[in-house]
Amino acid sequence: MKEQLESIRSAALEAVKNAISEKEIEELRVKYLGKKGELTAILKQMGGLSAEERPKMGQLVNEAKQNVENLISKRGQELKLKATELKLKSETIDITMPPKKREVGKLHPLNTVLDDMIDIFQSMGFDVLDGPEVETDHYNFECLNVPADHPARDMQDTFYLGENLLLRTQTSAAQIRTMETRKPPIRIICPGRVFRADEVDATHSPVFHQIEGLVVDKGITMCDLKGVLEQFAHEIYGKDTEVKFRPSFFPFTEPSVEVDVTCSECGGKGCRVCKGSGWIEILGAGMVHPNVLRSCGIDPDVYSGFAFGIGLDRLTTTRYKISDIRLLFENDKRFLNQF
Ligand code: PHE
Repeated sequence: MKEQLESIRSAALEAVKNAISEKEIEELRVKYLGKKGELTAILKQMGGLSAEERPKMGQLVNEAKQNVENLISKRGQELKLKATELKLKSETIDITMPPKKREVGKLHPLNTVLDDMIDIFQSMGFDVLDGPEVETDHYNFECLNVPADHPARDMQDTFYLGENLLLRTQTSAAQIRTMETRKPPIRIICPGRVFRADEVDATHSPVFHQIEGLVVDKGITMCDLKGVLEQFAHEIYGKDTEVKFRPSFFPFTEPSVEVDVTCSECGGKGCRVCKGSGWIEILGAGMVHPNVLRSCGIDPDVYSGFAFGIGLDRLTTTRYKISDIRLLFENDKRFLNQF
């Protein structure tokens, strides 16, 4: 029995020493020390021994068990450490690797400038409205004092979608839609896309943006127009910018003006951007024509008003010194990422 014990013990120790995984160690623990394990089984055979031999043998078996148990826990710990080391090694992060770039969306420069403009006009009490891009001839021309045979139609090359349907050439259609649904006092702006079949070049695009403004109330005069537009120009371009009102013509305003500001590129000295003049035109405006008020059911003897149409694209290209208007519509990320 002693020999049997000895051979089990040395086999167990050998096996534990050679084990290469924690799982294997666990299997050996069951095999030798478990309830049905080999060393446990030997204890059960002790019934056949004499009373004298029994305690001695018991002590030997217990020693052997202790022996095996110690080695199992030692080897187990070694293997555990080794496994952790391996895992750490395989999961190390190379902190010198360049990180994955996280791209953050940004506002398009047109939207940034538009947001600023909306802020300025809202602070002056204007509401912001929206209008359809596909318009009828009625709203885009007829009610704006431009009947079918009027030569002013040639001022804007129109994309027609049908006999009476077109892509709006100006946001001025919003004036009519507003006056049909609201009664004075009216103070609105209407930003949006407009379309003209122009030749495309660095300063012309078949699609561009305008912001229409309309104020109608009792006693509105040209002074109000000048005050509002001057205030607007100063907020956008800075207090030192000069603002010039030039007589002009629009069929739906009388009198009409075009508004220039000192060129922000050269400060008024004359450069490539302002074509040597020192001025940049930013908008058209005027006192709403009595015919237009009348066509919307507003009595021109009681009410008067002014309207303006600001070119958003020009404002954006001058603010950011963008040399070609087409860049605003191409959605080239290399360009857009600069803002
Ligand atoms: N609609 C005109 C244009 O597109 C601009 C304008 C708007 C002029 C309102 C006067 C009043 O040129």
